[in-house]
Amino acid sequence: MTAQLRARGDVAVLVPAAGAGLRLGPGGPKALRLLAGEPLLVHAVRRVAAAPSVRLIVVAAPAAEVEAVRELLAPVAPVTVVAGGAERQESVARALAQVPADIEIVLVHDAARALTPPDLIESVAAAVRDGHPAVIPALPVVDTIKEVDPGETVLGTVDRSVLRSVQTPQGFRHDVLAAAHAAAADHLTDDAGLVEKAGRPVICVPGSELAMKITRPLDLILAEALLNLG
Ligand code: CTP
Ligand code: MG
Repeated sequence: MTAQLRARGDVAVLVPAAGAGLRLGPGGPKALRLLAGEPLLVHAVRRVAAAPSVRLIVVAAPAAEVEAVRELLAPVAPVTVVAGGAERQESVARALAQVPADIEIVLVHDAARALTPPDLIESVAAAVRDGHPAVIPALPVVDTIKEVDPGETVLGTVDRSVLRSVQTPQGFRHDVLAAAHAAAADHLTDDAGLVEKAGRPVICVPGSELAMKITRPLDLILAEALLNLG
């Protein structure tokens, strides 16, 4: 039985949260690491649950933590918790398997983007509702980007104006995401990449600085500062 958040919502949000957080350094699975006294996953799920279109939330937790994550999130929002897999893509596929066929919009949202505002979740969902099969939030790239060879010799400078830095939530028509995952051969770090490989159009909507991914120790410090601003 899947726990519903809002019967009138038309969106399911999958929250991959099963990663180890190796780049954050020692301290256990990243989704359970604390930011201002609360696990990243709690921050993330609270914001997802505040988005008015969301009917269902499915979290992919570290396999050893499924019961602990259920207990952790019970006071935050009604959520379904499944065991994640060894790769992000597998975690997403396991969460996707919990979404009933009558939900037509599915978003995939990293627990590590713990401060993503509910407005961004709504704007991605709205673009899918408007007819786009795959929608991703993106920001312009600020650094100059170089292409290098294996010896770190610069081969050239990439035209920054055509590059985007991509975030989550990534939104999809349910059938499009399911078909992309079913056809997936290689492991990719985002779901839109699977849809691109399937030859479907993916469009960008404006992302948010608050949707930054907490990856390295400095990101935790930045996230805490952002939290204090809000
Ligand atoms: N994720 C997941 N299952 C995996 C790997 C990653 O659900 N097998 C999730 C992470 O929990 C995170 C999101 O995918 O919310 C983005 O991954 P990333 O930022 O790379 O997190 P980790 O894999 O935990 O970090 P690292 O790569 O540093 O170990
Ligand atoms: Mg990872």
